[in-house]
Amino acid sequence: MRLTSLASAGLLVAAPAAAQTENCTLPSTYKWTSSGPLAQPKSGWASLKDFTTARYNDKHLVYATTHDTGSNWGSMAFSPFSNWTEMASATQNKMNFATVAPTLFYFRPKSVWVLAYQWGPTAFSYRTSTDPTNANGWGGVQTLYSGSVQGSSTGAIDQTVIGDDKNMYLFFCGDNGKIYRASMPIEKFPGSFGSSATTIMSDSTNNLFEAVQVYRVQGQQQYLMIVEAVGGQGRFFRSFTATSLSGSWTPQAASESRPFAGKANSGATWTNDISHGDIIRVTNDETFTIDACNLQLLYQGRSPSSGGDYGKLPYRPGLLTLQR
Ligand SMILES: *[C@@H]1O[C@H](CO)[C@@H](O)[C@H](O)[C@H]1NC(C)=O
Ligand SMILES: *[C@@H]1O[C@H](CO)[C@@H](O)[C@H](O)[C@H]1NC(C)=O
Repeated sequence: MRLTSLASAGLLVAAPAAAQTENCTLPSTYKWTSSGPLAQPKSGWASLKDFTTARYNDKHLVYATTHDTGSNWGSMAFSPFSNWTEMASATQNKMNFATVAPTLFYFRPKSVWVLAYQWGPTAFSYRTSTDPTNANGWGGVQTLYSGSVQGSSTGAIDQTVIGDDKNMYLFFCGDNGKIYRASMPIEKFPGSFGSSATTIMSDSTNNLFEAVQVYRVQGQQQYLMIVEAVGGQGRFFRSFTATSLSGSWTPQAASESRPFAGKANSGATWTNDISHGDIIRVTNDETFTIDACNLQLLYQGRSPSSGGDYGKLPYRPGLLTLQR
């Protein structure tokens, strides 16, 4: 691989450090500290939501959903920044097309960045780019998934994508107590997962609501899934683990009183909701690898006194850091 393609992959800084990394197992009980709100939406936007974040060289690259002060959903990217304390002053770049509830990663086998999202022409769409720092440099819309779900007022919602050596997997929700999975051989990606998916988990609507994310735990034969639930004290994340992406998921920290992350353990005072976001990954690629020694969750929170129109709820980014 040439240096220029390494640079566009954002690998020059991240890759050499990985070999010396200590590897931890996931804790059985989570306890976090929280930042306050890390950024305010720029003029014209009521909220910043649904964060996805990947490393680009030594910087954090964050894409998000926006809602304006009227009735429109949209999307944006922050200009890359080195330190979360710089998020407040990072430029907020409006996108010319809405990539709602985005998932950003570098697809290493084809050396291309992928942005997957909902509410395009089909249930899920994606675009590709060689420069993800350019919010409006993405190519044309492609179909990621064209199926539908039963018993859901929202339809298929909140996709994530992750790969192992052989396959790429699509996981998604339906605001209906179900988690769905589809897969394809990794050689065929980027491409469409088709129009049918397997229901892999079923529970009450509130227990398996939305915002599913799936990660590989570095140095372990283990995958972590988090799913946003609707609790009595706000939104919170439940966690599940599996030994393979095609396998079954075991509840881990899955109650509101002992959650993966929620009011009970977040340490946040500015928000009750610990809602849609992304765990900070150690690689930017399709493996979605996380470091259990240094877990951090970029999430959306909002003032507990806010209410009214869902789209205009004042969601802001916040960062949880695990206490070990
Ligand atoms: C980020 O900035 C804060 C405040 O200046 C500093 O305490 C912290 O060490 C910085 N973090 C990194 C990773 O550089
Ligand atoms: C941690 O895991 C990575 C990836 O599997 C591996 O390369 C590394 O050697 C491991 N580190 C230790 C200290 O075992």
